[in-house]
Amino acid sequence: MSELNSLILERIRDVPDYPKQGIQFKDITPLLADPVAMAAVVDELAGLYQVDKIVGIEARGFILAAPVAYRAGAGFVPVRKKGKLPAETLEESYDLEYGSATIEVHRDALAPGERVLVIDDVLATGGTAAATVELVRRTGAEVVAVAVLMELAFLGGRERLTGVPLHSLVIV
Ligand code: PRP
Repeated sequence: MSELNSLILERIRDVPDYPKQGIQFKDITPLLADPVAMAAVVDELAGLYQVDKIVGIEARGFILAAPVAYRAGAGFVPVRKKGKLPAETLEESYDLEYGSATIEVHRDALAPGERVLVIDDVLATGGTAAATVELVRRTGAEVVAVAVLMELAFLGGRERLTGVPLHSLVIV
């Protein structure tokens, strides 16, 4: 196992039965609180690809994506849950276990031809990341890759990301 792998794995806490019974929540706050581990993660993500924009997915994706954008000399663009962005948006809906969710991006946040890296903390079923990829593509920008801190491989999210590389810092 690489040094980065253990830096991350040792600082992600499993919280049983959160937010509901039977779910084991991956809590990244111990990692965020450790300046050495956080810097290693940010540097790794910032060095992966040359891009114009880093798209961060609400809410924990923002915490990683913003410093990565700064480090990479790229712009930061938030993808938010419906109703949170003030100007004109594009929206994309996707299925959840029960019901559906809708995410949005500002219509003018990305331009055709721009190279984009999408960042989130965790890839679970892949619904959120796949919808974000679709949103970015609809702006005409190019999704170079999706990068996540942690991929929960047993949920099969990787299969929902068609035609875009997935870079996971750790896979469990
Ligand atoms: C979590 C996580 C990812 C998403 C992954 O966010 O931060 O964005 O779920 O799940 P999926 O791969 O099954 O789509 P959450 O919806 O809990 O939002 P939050 O960060 O705003 O709490």
